[in-house]
This record gives sequence, C-alpha cells and structure tokens, in this order.
Amino acid sequence: MNKIISKRKLSEGIYRYTFENKELASARKPGQFLILRVHDKGERIPLTIVDSNKKLGTVDIIFQAVGKTTNLLSDLNEGDCILDVAGPLGNPTPIENFGRCVAIGGGVGTAVLFPILKALKDAGNYVIAIIGARNKDALILVDEIRAISDELIITTDDGSAGTKGFVTDALNQLIGRNDKIDYVYAVGPVIMMKSAADLTEKHNIKTEVSLNPIMVDGTGMCGSCRCIIDGKERFACIHGPDFNGHKVDFNLLIQRLKMFEGREQESMNCGCEKKEK
Ligand code: FAD
Ligand code: NAD
Ligand code: FES
Repeated sequence: MNKIISKRKLSEGIYRYTFENKELASARKPGQFLILRVHDKGERIPLTIVDSNKKLGTVDIIFQAVGKTTNLLSDLNEGDCILDVAGPLGNPTPIENFGRCVAIGGGVGTAVLFPILKALKDAGNYVIAIIGARNKDALILVDEIRAISDELIITTDDGSAGTKGFVTDALNQLIGRNDKIDYVYAVGPVIMMKSAADLTEKHNIKTEVSLNPIMVDGTGMCGSCRCIIDGKERFACIHGPDFNGHKVDFNLLIQRLKMFEGREQESMNCGCEKKEK
C-alpha cells in the first residue's frame, strides 16, 4: 500500500510521485487532497491529488520540499512506501460549463491547478492557462498544461521564460484586452490569490481560489484550518479548500500561516527523524 512506483524531480526541490492506492485512485475528484504521514511520530501534511489512474490504481502528488515533512518525503525512493495516506479529503471543485475561463497557477500552485484545468476543459470550457514561476527552471508542468489548454501564457519574475512579471500582470493584460472572461480559478502564494481576486472583483468576474491554511486532522475537528469567508468562520478542510476569492479574509490567512514559523524552523533543524529512518 502507498508504494512509490515513480519518483521524478520536476525542478529544484519539487518532486512528482506516483504511488499505489486503488481506493484513492477510484474515489478522488478534481480539487480534493490527501493527508499523509512519513513516519509514525511525524506530523500530517495535506497535499493535492494531482492525478490518478483508476485502471492501474495509482495516485500522483507533486510537492515542494519546504520544511521538515516535505523534506523527509523527498528522501523516499521508488519502492519505498508512504507510511499512511488518508483521503480523498475536502470538496471537489464545482465544475460547470462556465464559458471562457482563465486558470492561474503560481509556483508549485501549478500542481494544484492541473486537475482543475483538466476538469474545466473536459466540461467544455475554453481555457486560458496562466502559469508563472520565479524563473525558467522553476516552471513545472508546462507541456502537460499546454496539451490541455486552448491558450497558455507563461510568466517568470525574472523574464527568463515567457513574459517578465507576475501571473497577475498577465491576468491584468487579458482583462485589458476586453475579451469576455466568465470565470477565474487561481492557486498559488496567498498574496498572488489575493491580488488576482482584487483584480477580478473590480470587473465582476466569478473567481475561485484554493486555500492552503495549516491543517492537522483534515476532518473539521482540530480547528487549525479556520478561515473567515464572507465574515463567517469556515474550516478549509471540510468547507473548502475552494472558496469564492472575493469573500476570503486573506490577511487573516497570511497571519495564521506565520503562526508556527519558529517551531517549524526548530523542527527542521532538529533532524531527529532522519536519524531514526
Ligand atoms: P513546515 O516546516 O511545517 O512549514 C513550511 C511552510 O509550509 C510554512 O510556510 C508553513 O506555513 C506551511 N505549512 C506547514 N504545515 C502546513 C499544513 N499542514 N498545511 C499547509 N501549509 C503548511 N504543497 C505542495 O507542495 N503541493 C501540493 O499539492 C499542496 N497541496 C496542498 C493542499 C492543501 C489543501 C493545503 C492546505 C496545503 C497544500 N500544500 C501543498 C502545502 C503543504 O501542505 C505544505 O507545504 C506542507 O504541509 C509543509 O510541511 P513541512 O513540514 O514540510 O513544512
Ligand atoms: P513563488 O513565491 O515562487 O511565486 C510563484 C508565482 O506566484 C510568481 O512567479 C508570481 O507569478 C506569483 N506571485 C508571487 N508573488 C506575487 C505577488 N506579490 N503578486 C502577484 N503574484 C505573485 O511561489 P513558490 O515558491 O512556488 O511557492 C508556492 C506558494 O504556493 C507557497 O506560498 C505555498 O504556500 C503556496 N501553495 C498554495 C497551495 C494552495 O493550495 N493554495 C498549495 C501549494 C502551495
Ligand atoms: Fe482540523 Fe481543518 S484540519 S479542522
């Protein structure tokens, strides 16, 4: 169970794993995530289910090694098993034939975007993808996204590929072109989702974002993923992770994501589980 059958490095610190899990492969829907543990004393972390193959009973995740658990996960190799995996969790993204859609992925958020983009295309939408990263080498899934999009716009912060600037600059230009846009889906750094939502609110374009608060149990019990949406308390794990971008209190999310920075750094530096492995 959860045996890694393929490990690929997509860019510096970003990995794609394909692992065996028949139940998850057949039950998951676009927009859902899983929660995994790498060792029995470890924390549980949420990762989006990027793709699955029902026939083979396999599931794909893409993750950025940013802290303790994602670094331990990146130490695993083909043939190793992920200790435990719970899911699918969260609500599937509501997908309709909206018309002309813009799907935006910033950095590793592009991995979260991929299943949504695929589902939007399958539902008959015209899909313009905007994907961005710090530089050319940090871009991920370019060929896969090009293959399923009607148009693809690439941005890099330093201009080493595509247009120089942020994904939100490309969105601003698209809006300026005065082409009709019926729906925007944005996922990436919180500040990027906030900028995208601020922009589309001015033009009254329906916008969904995928929130990434700290999660522990993923079942609505612990309260760690509390967000404020339209002035109301919501738990991203059971009410989300997708929400109307115009209703999200992004400042609270930014503040809550910083809550454990000190302890995350301490845990990263301790390295004790690495020795136990
Ligand atoms: P830590 O040392 O714990 O923290 C490093 C950074 O990650 C900090 O900035 C911290 O604020 C943030 N973080 C820590 N714990 C969590 C947590 N439980 N949830 C969210 N953020 C956290 N990342 C990917 O690379 N690929 C994905 O597909 C992906 N999908 C996600 C889907 C959801 C629904 C959510 C909520 C998060 C997703 N993330 C994804 C973020 C991923 O969960 C965190 O990067 C991971 O938990 C970091 O754990 P760590 O121990 O390695 O780092
Ligand atoms: P990054 O900092 O390299 O940014 C990626 C892209 O986002 C940039 O190239 C740019 O186009 C855009 N961006 C960044 N700052 C912006 C700003 N101020 N205004 C407008 N656009 C901006 O990202 P990274 O290092 O790949 O990190 C990925 C981020 O995605 C992390 O913050 C992580 O927490 C978040 N994330 C979110 C989810 C989710 O479910 N929402 C899942 C995984 C990761
Ligand atoms: Fe515990 Fe959402 S992760 S309530």
